[in-house]
Amino acid sequence: MPADTDLAKQNDELIRFTNVTKSFGDNTVLDDLCFSVRPGRHVTLIGPSGSGKTTILRLLMTLASPDSGTIDVNGGRLFPADEKERREVRKKIGMVFQQFNLFPNMTVLRNITEAPVRVLGLSKDEAEERARELLDLVGLADRADARPSQLSGGQQQRVAIARALAMRPQVLLLDEVTSALDPELVAGVLDVLRDIARTTDITMLCVTHEMNFARDISDEVLMFDAGKVIESGPPEKIFSEPEHERTREFLSAVL
Ligand SMILES: Nc1ncnc2c1ncn2[C@@H]1O[C@H](COP(=O)(O)OP(=O)(O)OP(=O)(O)O)[C@@H](O)[C@H]1O
Ligand SMILES: [Mg+2]
Repeated sequence: MPADTDLAKQNDELIRFTNVTKSFGDNTVLDDLCFSVRPGRHVTLIGPSGSGKTTILRLLMTLASPDSGTIDVNGGRLFPADEKERREVRKKIGMVFQQFNLFPNMTVLRNITEAPVRVLGLSKDEAEERARELLDLVGLADRADARPSQLSGGQQQRVAIARALAMRPQVLLLDEVTSALDPELVAGVLDVLRDIARTTDITMLCVTHEMNFARDISDEVLMFDAGKVIESGPPEKIFSEPEHERTREFLSAVL
């Protein structure tokens, strides 16, 4: 019987959750959860509030630990694993949060170069060259020297996206990245993400309430309820002909 990591490799899976359980007190948030994501895929997680979507992303960021089960990323083990192994695997994953969490006392450029220099050991020049390319990608080439407080929320979120990409992650986790934005700023951020989805081979795991966006970029949609994936498939299927009553209820509430 091969180890789970070998199985994941055989099956061409970049991320695999196997029998993952996570509780807070007597609240079982993830209940023997199994799912996997293949390399380069764009997967959207949907489900009611409290169904554990953010918890899944936090586990991948190693901001929380499962109670049991295994999590593998790119053939390496994230849980259970020793600190050294976990840190190596964790390097491949970047995340953008609802609240952008930029460093307020640093320029836009420095926000993007800080981790590549400190964690990846890039030279300042290399990191700056890459940061300027990324600022160009997110449409902010002319704001390199600004401070976060001088930017709109949408611009700050685009800097946060550039900052995550600067670490060259294989996996980009996006947790409701437009839900703290004024409505007129949402489209600009979604356009940048569409661009990234189209022009890079980065694997995306995305929690969003923007169903049109999810329909556009997703290869696959996973519907969560009560700590499990209750239904999954291509967006045309899930949004147009959901099988589960629970999915239909959820979609009729959000669409
Ligand atoms: N640190 C924590 N301590 C206690 N309970 C927690 C903690 N983090 C999450 N929970 C609980 O776990 C459940 C799942 O939370 P999670 O944030 O993963 O849901 P979600 O699907 O992202 O919801 P939403 O759509 O509202 O963002 C909720 O009931 C929440 O209250
Ligand atoms: Mg959440």
